[in-house]
Amino acid sequence: MGVVDGVVRLLGIDDLAACQRLAGDREWGREDRKWRFLFSVGDVYGVDDENGELAGTVVSTPYGEDVAAISMVLVAKRYERRGLGGRLMRHVMENAATASLCLTATEYGRPLYERLGFKAVGLCTTYKGVSDGPSRRGVSVPIEAVDMPAVHALDTEVFGADRSQVVEGLPFFCETLRVVRDERGVVGYGGAWRNDDRVIVGPVIAQDAETALALVDEVVPEGPVRVDIDHRHPELIAWAEERGLRPAFTTTIMEYGAPIANDPSRLYLPVAQALG
Ligand SMILES: CC(C)(COP(=O)(O)OP(=O)(O)OC[C@H]1O[C@@H](n2cnc3c(N)ncnc32)[C@H](O)[C@@H]1OP(=O)(O)O)[C@@H](O)C(=O)NCCC(=O)NCCS
Repeated sequence: MGVVDGVVRLLGIDDLAACQRLAGDREWGREDRKWRFLFSVGDVYGVDDENGELAGTVVSTPYGEDVAAISMVLVAKRYERRGLGGRLMRHVMENAATASLCLTATEYGRPLYERLGFKAVGLCTTYKGVSDGPSRRGVSVPIEAVDMPAVHALDTEVFGADRSQVVEGLPFFCETLRVVRDERGVVGYGGAWRNDDRVIVGPVIAQDAETALALVDEVVPEGPVRVDIDHRHPELIAWAEERGLRPAFTTTIMEYGAPIANDPSRLYLPVAQALG
């Protein structure tokens, strides 16, 4: 029972391999790129067991004073249903200095979050398949350093919190990152990043659906892809189905605390489920 008494400690990049062993225990991939980005933008916490192996993790990525995104809530199978998941969650909830929290819950996690006071605000279906690559060209252009202030401003307005550390990291994290400009300035941005053997399409934030669909068409690479689609965006579900992608699983988008001042109608695709 040592694990139940272990302290929740802040992990560092030296703990990456242990995080990946824990994820493997739950049949999650290595997700090297995603873990490294989370270590750089968020706070990764864990509890060790008596053998020095990680028994559980949770990541909290704070966006200014408004919102923190919670992710990687993982408990080793051998320690499940002993209250460890709840303890890790309470730790980040007590230490969060933000007015609200958000997360995307699997069916395993949802009852736990509901008990802690999280409310479901939407559903997200993950589509997977093999893409033929970009189906058009010419609406968007590769992002340049001069676009960053406008991208940051659009992201803050639509997401409802200042995600500067994530936005500043996107040019390095993403394999492709493009913007759409018109006479008003930047009206949308979108990217795609590699996670293990698959490319995740996202983020996409745009002023209207036409711009968002142009972005997904132009950033989607050839090969295995994954797209996490909020059900509030049926036009993206249609886009995925037209390209032969298939639903793999559905998760619940949940929030805790003060209502988040975001605009889901312009938030087309998350950076990652872990980051909103
Ligand atoms: C989701 C997950 C983190 C939960 O971890 P956990 O440590 O088992 O969580 P807890 O023990 O706090 O709570 C789980 C259940 O055990 C119960 N429980 C807690 N302490 C208990 C105890 N001492 N004895 C018996 N049951 C207990 C809880 O009431 C809860 O019951 P419920 O699900 O029927 O409501 C874990 O199942 C996991 O890693 N799953 C795979 C990865 C995943 O999907 N993560 C969620 C991402 S959103």
